[in-house]
Amino acid sequence: MTDLSRRTFLGAAGTVAAGAAVGPWVRRAHAQGAPLKIGLVLPYSGVYAVLGESITQAMELVFARENWTVAGRKIELIKEDDEMQPPVGIRKTEKLIESDKVDILTGPVHSGILMGMRDKVHNSKTVLIVSNAGADAISRERCSKWIFRTSFSNWQPNQPMGAWVAKNVSKDVFIMAPNYQAGKDQLGAFKETFVPAGGKLVGEDYPKLGETDYAPYLTKVRQSGAKAVYAFFSGTDAVNFVKQYASFGLKQTIKLTGAGFLTEPDVLPAQGASALGVITGHFYTPLLDNGANHKFVKEFRDKFFGKMPDGFACQGYDTAEVIVRAVKAVNGNTQDKDKLVDAIAKVEFDSPRGRFRFDPKTHNVIQPYIYIREVREVYGGLNNVPIDKVADVRDPGTGCTLPA
Ligand code: BEZ
Repeated sequence: MTDLSRRTFLGAAGTVAAGAAVGPWVRRAHAQGAPLKIGLVLPYSGVYAVLGESITQAMELVFARENWTVAGRKIELIKEDDEMQPPVGIRKTEKLIESDKVDILTGPVHSGILMGMRDKVHNSKTVLIVSNAGADAISRERCSKWIFRTSFSNWQPNQPMGAWVAKNVSKDVFIMAPNYQAGKDQLGAFKETFVPAGGKLVGEDYPKLGETDYAPYLTKVRQSGAKAVYAFFSGTDAVNFVKQYASFGLKQTIKLTGAGFLTEPDVLPAQGASALGVITGHFYTPLLDNGANHKFVKEFRDKFFGKMPDGFACQGYDTAEVIVRAVKAVNGNTQDKDKLVDAIAKVEFDSPRGRFRFDPKTHNVIQPYIYIREVREVYGGLNNVPIDKVADVRDPGTGCTLPA
């Protein structure tokens, strides 16, 4: 508590003598009446800007439903653009923790930024609810009592796809992803089940994140003898890759498959007909037939001028829902971090993706399903239509044993 805010509080309390008042009772009362500060470290520029926007919009949808108040505390969002640069993301994280003194942090989108933030968050005992970045290590050797993840580990949408592609698409596959941690994690998870299912990797390539010319890579694909490609790209990378894949003439002869991010609704309108027929694995599609999703799709589209929610929006929705439920459970007292963490771990609800719950071993979300989806023209536009599914997909992390 700053001198100024202490004086303000004591002034309002009127009769309390300063020396006697500065105890736990006062600190608790102050914290509970103070705004609930939520720091967002997200990309609002660069390759993944559309992802940051979807996450933020869905969080705002949930908080607006709560009249921007939870357990008597006004919700205040402090948004920081990490510019997709790990040093920037780390600097913004420090600012949010040390200067803004946020109650809860969320973000980032980029796995490398998450890895860079991890020690800062862990050592300062700041509660971080990861709303996208899938770095597997955060559910495994770099886990932390203070870190939860509402999105996915990079392993989750990809591991079920390896065996599925080998069985249903082809055993001769070229794999490709941007050259950074998420790309390596995602293709690693695909290989884990593809090779044991009899699959043969006919090529593997890692263009730089933010590549705009895939021609040299697509030439290699054409020459490799591949019958299918499995790719992870997202944001503007996904737009460029899928469009160039089609204009290169590969679409008709070499089936394009990948992680769901490749054809999410954030990029489908820009990809247009080039995305038709692409098969991907993901935990969400706006076509899911459950009550929470019907409501979410309608409210999101009403609020954001007809925009179709994507998986990133579902992640933002779930992050905000977790925050609202946990802060209510502790009656607005976010100062007792142990109690806050216990409350977050217990949150369960019907999310647009299905029943939401954390794996107690890893603090990572358990995916009710990974859907295998195909882009088809249905309901007046391009949509990811579920054609198969794999239930109860949990990251294989075995437990966080690092000291708190
Ligand atoms: C990541 O860096 O973890 C990531 C970025 C975009 C989509 C999925 C994962």
